[in-house]
Amino acid sequence: MFVGVVGAGQLGRMMALDGYRLGIRFRFYESKPGAPGAELAELIQGDYDDQDALGWFARGLDCITYEFENIPSESMDFLAKRHPVYPSPGALEVSQERLKEKNFLNELGVPTAPYAAIDSEADLPAAMAKSGTPAIIKSRRLGYDGKGQARVDDASTAAAAWDSIGNVPAISEGYVAFDRELSIVAVRNIAGEIAYYPLTENVHKAGILRLSIAPALAADEALQAQAEDYAKRILEKLDYVGVLAIEFFEKEGELIANELAPRVHNSGHWTIEGAETSQFENHLRAICGLPLGSTRTCGSSAMINLIGDLPALEKVHATPGAHLHLYNKSPRPGRKLGHVTLRENSREALLATLPQLLAVVCQGEVTLEDLDLR
Ligand SMILES: Nc1ncnc2c1ncn2[C@@H]1O[C@H](COP(=O)(O)OP(=O)(O)O)[C@@H](O)[C@H]1O
Ligand SMILES: [Mg+2]
Repeated sequence: MFVGVVGAGQLGRMMALDGYRLGIRFRFYESKPGAPGAELAELIQGDYDDQDALGWFARGLDCITYEFENIPSESMDFLAKRHPVYPSPGALEVSQERLKEKNFLNELGVPTAPYAAIDSEADLPAAMAKSGTPAIIKSRRLGYDGKGQARVDDASTAAAAWDSIGNVPAISEGYVAFDRELSIVAVRNIAGEIAYYPLTENVHKAGILRLSIAPALAADEALQAQAEDYAKRILEKLDYVGVLAIEFFEKEGELIANELAPRVHNSGHWTIEGAETSQFENHLRAICGLPLGSTRTCGSSAMINLIGDLPALEKVHATPGAHLHLYNKSPRPGRKLGHVTLRENSREALLATLPQLLAVVCQGEVTLEDLDLR
């Protein structure tokens, strides 16, 4: 198989690293030079709307996938005329736009926070009334790692908040005083077979994922079944092929969907060491017409992101059970440069060794206190 991947960031890089073992070949498409995937496979560089370059990218491929969500729909349609694109352009469209995404989830009976559209200043009073305060105003498109968001504690500051994100089409969303954040990574293949990884607990700071624990502590079977049911509805409605991640807030034992990612996801990186089959391999199996691999976990895992600059790597190397992944990106504040996964045979062992690694990697910014140790 020859797979084309739109986007050559760390997600594409890790996909290729796993895919080579399966005998899959790769070609990347990327707008920026020096992307992390460039060291692994041929890369066609061009803007995401450059159909000449996209045409070069598409030649000879068996199928196309993406690790980056902000691809113009015309470009997706252009590619889909040449080869199968997985997940389908329709699935991408739903998750590219927060208003469409929230409408879609609610139509399927998947709960979300209350929300309302903001297209003009005149919409603000009604939107704030609908979402309630505190709220978060979020750009409908192009948001990631908390970018394009502004918090509103009092409706009188809504105009200033919307100004701060550039008055782009937005939604106002009720702030959820959650007990914790969870996500599920699910995968569906061409034959319609579905597999789920266990719920993962995620700790974000300033909108950026810092730590994931899998399986989530004390997530009972009922909560897992609820997450799987929501994922199944979404996957089947979209006739989805590939990995899908759903981010949730958990509040009083209920799951409230936050957003969808139509791709492999940062909260699934632990599956490289912590599951029988990684999310990257399962994504490739799904889109290449293969049966899915087992999602059974191997012990308990914690994934810590390396953000902004690298910690003392010799200390990471010296930690038994710690697996370092570097993306070869240059340091920059807020940038994901790599991650470390700590895998242990039991939850108890994981919680015993994690504090030391957190201290090395996060220097006190993230601690066990951030987890829900119920
Ligand atoms: N409605 C909300 N209530 C509480 N916290 C929120 C809400 N929306 C976002 N957040 C916080 O901000 C983080 C990033 O927001 P998210 O909508 O997932 O955007 P992004 O696309 O940047 O990941 C979330 O993981 C959560 O920690
Ligand atoms: Mg998110």
